[in-house]
Amino acid sequence: MKITVIGTGYVGLVTGACLADMGNNVMCLDVDEAKVAMLREGRIPIYEPGLEELVQRNVEASRLQFTNDIEASVAFGDVQFIAVGTPPGEDGSADLQYVLAAARNIGRHMANRKVIVDKSTVPVGTADNVRAAVAEVLAERGVELPFGVVSNPEFLKEGSAVKDFMGPERIIVGADSDEDVAVMRRIYGPFQRTHDRLMVMDLRSAELTKYAANAMLATRISFMNEMAGLAEALGADIEHVRRGIGADSRIGYHFLYPGAGYGGSCFPKDVQALIRTADEFGLPMRVVHAVEATNVEQKRALARKAIARFGEDLSGRTFALWGLAFKPNTDDMREAPSLEVIDELTRRGARVCAHDPVAMHEAGKLLAGNDRVTLADDMYAALEGADALIIVTEWKVFRAPDFERVKRALKTPVIFDGRNLYDPADLRDLGFDYEGIGRR
Ligand code: NAI
Repeated sequence: MKITVIGTGYVGLVTGACLADMGNNVMCLDVDEAKVAMLREGRIPIYEPGLEELVQRNVEASRLQFTNDIEASVAFGDVQFIAVGTPPGEDGSADLQYVLAAARNIGRHMANRKVIVDKSTVPVGTADNVRAAVAEVLAERGVELPFGVVSNPEFLKEGSAVKDFMGPERIIVGADSDEDVAVMRRIYGPFQRTHDRLMVMDLRSAELTKYAANAMLATRISFMNEMAGLAEALGADIEHVRRGIGADSRIGYHFLYPGAGYGGSCFPKDVQALIRTADEFGLPMRVVHAVEATNVEQKRALARKAIARFGEDLSGRTFALWGLAFKPNTDDMREAPSLEVIDELTRRGARVCAHDPVAMHEAGKLLAGNDRVTLADDMYAALEGADALIIVTEWKVFRAPDFERVKRALKTPVIFDGRNLYDPADLRDLGFDYEGIGRR
């Protein structure tokens, strides 16, 4: 099939490359000229395991191309996937300007029937808005052309995006025409090896499914973070509690890890957008409000531990920080807990020396304005002379460090572990003053 993907970010680039790998002809459009130039040279603007080879393979096979040319991209695909950003607006609601701009571009240049697929995470009712935007532009042009609108929210996870897209647990398709459903079945058929994972529903249910999934996952995290705080106060160990409740098949082990708070480009903004949607309809979601408020607090947990140990005034102190990306296997630092920790510590006069296995370039851009932060190319170099080590992201390389080297490098052997990577008893035996989240 001939497919256009609009937006070559984490979702659009993976979608385009995976669709091309299944034999489709894919054109990826982005308005960011530098990004397109980079992609044309075979360079990938983001870190995502397996993506570079996938893109290069499909570009070489002439199934995948990148462009800034809106007109050409609209002409190219019979199916137009919209995968542009939907960042939070000032009041927390999803900002739809990029989605609607993409929709209007399609209306402006289309000359035959198009299936327009919303892959971006968008509030309930957006498919109607996309339809209205396209219809309005067509009316301005004075032409009548058929088109369909489909909601196909994406559930890939950064860090395993290619694997997730290639082997999805489910594919949600919201549609109001059999013709469009048939197109989506054709596109996704090759991705469903063992059984039919495509779920067809109405547009609104599909749109809401994405928010419900993210809000549920965020709820589990905030619940565990709150429970970890209670465990600390009561002298219990959250790790025992986690295993004790996870064994219950109704609960399960996934997403039961307490930590430094959730970040990333999805959970925080999607939880906020859901809250706004519900508020708008006069049905405030109390649970989801609490999930958000708990997370805001939790992102301060590591800094609070440092303050409890070293005092409110941290001038003269230096902290080593391991992990800047919001989670392992990505360079994405949007809403990363590390930013919150760094902000709180440096505002109190401390210096921070940070290291991340892949997010150093991103960190360089985001932290350029903070002269109390230095970035170390090596995880051990970040420790030199620091008063404590703070672990924010659970990268594999941090799981089994050379503890003797860590101890030698630190001024005082203090570790605040926001991801509970180590056994507290082992660390104490090694001579560390070690604090995890909710650990005894
Ligand atoms: P991103 O910010 O990485 O990429 C968006 C891209 O769209 C940018 O390259 C931007 O230049 C481009 N763009 C903006 N307006 C455009 C236009 N009119 N025409 C062409 N290109 C345009 O965003 P990301 O992370 O890929 O997210 C996209 C959507 O997918 C969001 O709604 C997000 O919530 C959702 N999503 C994201 C996931 C993730 O893990 N990042 C997972 C599942 C859904």
